Amino acid sequence: MPFLSDTLSRVKPSPTIAVTNKARELKDAGKDVIGLGAGEPDFDTPENIKAAAIAAINEGKTKYTAVDGIPELKKAICAKFKRDNGLDYTPDQVTVGTGGKQVLYNALMATLNPGDEVLIPAPYWVSYPDMVLLAGGEPTFVEGQLQTKFKITAEQLDAAITPKTKWFIFNSPSNPTGAGYSRAELKALTDVLKKHPHVWIMTDDMYEHLAYDDFEFCTPAQVEPELYDRTLTVNGVSKAYAMTGWRIGYAAGPKDLIKAMGKIQSQSTSNPSSISQWAAVEALNGSQDFIAPNNEIFKRRRDMVCEMLNAVDGITCPVPEGAFYVYPSIAGLIGKTSAKGVKITDDEVFATALLEDTGVAVVFGAAFGLSPNFRISYATSDEALKEACTRIQDFCASLS
Ligand SMILES: Cc1ncc(COP(=O)(O)O)c(C=O)c1O
Repeated sequence: MPFLSDTLSRVKPSPTIAVTNKARELKDAGKDVIGLGAGEPDFDTPENIKAAAIAAINEGKTKYTAVDGIPELKKAICAKFKRDNGLDYTPDQVTVGTGGKQVLYNALMATLNPGDEVLIPAPYWVSYPDMVLLAGGEPTFVEGQLQTKFKITAEQLDAAITPKTKWFIFNSPSNPTGAGYSRAELKALTDVLKKHPHVWIMTDDMYEHLAYDDFEFCTPAQVEPELYDRTLTVNGVSKAYAMTGWRIGYAAGPKDLIKAMGKIQSQSTSNPSSISQWAAVEALNGSQDFIAPNNEIFKRRRDMVCEMLNAVDGITCPVPEGAFYVYPSIAGLIGKTSAKGVKITDDEVFATALLEDTGVAVVFGAAFGLSPNFRISYATSDEALKEACTRIQDFCASLS
């Protein structure tokens, strides 16, 4: 009898963590490594949020709380949905978990039966397919194209839905591409979803506030109110408030689904950290003023990275609307050979050779389900980014 479960063999270890480990190994060995793999802002959590957490500790708010969130946080979340998205939710339609990751996982665990399909646009955040597999469902994919900045079209969505599709996962702005759907582009998708009443929508709005130029963020239930009753709107404080380590995510949706998700959480982790919940109350209710200046910094970095990468013969890098990622194509480099004699046959070979020859750590596209590409996270200093892009330019120029 095998000791490990059969379910475990269905999932793969996180490739982003594998890249981080490899980069750390090289760094420990004394190599000059620039890591562009991390999916978190390099800014510190704002002071008012830290102060709220310290106050919570001092006031003894350190005990178990209601499993799926303290009433004060649920109230702040309802206010956020109204303020930012024009969506009306009551506290019993809201759940809070240990990061958006747990909330998404709870939703899949609470709803998937064997054979149920979850439709995921590729490239995708690495965890979606594996969470679906862990929950006993089947991930299915629909591929974005370079020409549309990796966004899927209404026709593609319509063609990919089957009678077994239970959920459609939507993520805009996207990890790994940074691409954001305009209201018109999203409306085209919601029009398709209206025609398929058996499909529920799980929208991951984690990068809502990280949007640049004049991009207007929208979420499915806002664009198409008819979908409200079958949409789970997921969000969190990790990215916009530089709170990745605090582990607070949340979602709003139909009461029965929210209750079912709470049931899963009640038998796994119980409440998210009480202290982090009080910090999140301050994040959502307090000043939002730091978001705009942070976004100016991200936008400047995005522009520099795109410009430097697009200057490389063989790389095409669409300029994304949001998040802190770019997802350049290396189609023009496939088949070339590095100075050390490595033939670039795919994006994994490219990323490995780049890391070993130049010390620049990026994540290869196959990890996100669309090749040949790689992902850069530009949530790091301007100096490090400039140096990394110069090394990428030199490495690509050395290929023959
Ligand atoms: C698209 C997307 N969704 C969800 C998450 C999870 O965020 P957290 O669990 O920190 O709230 C991430 C984190 O990288 C992400 O990129």
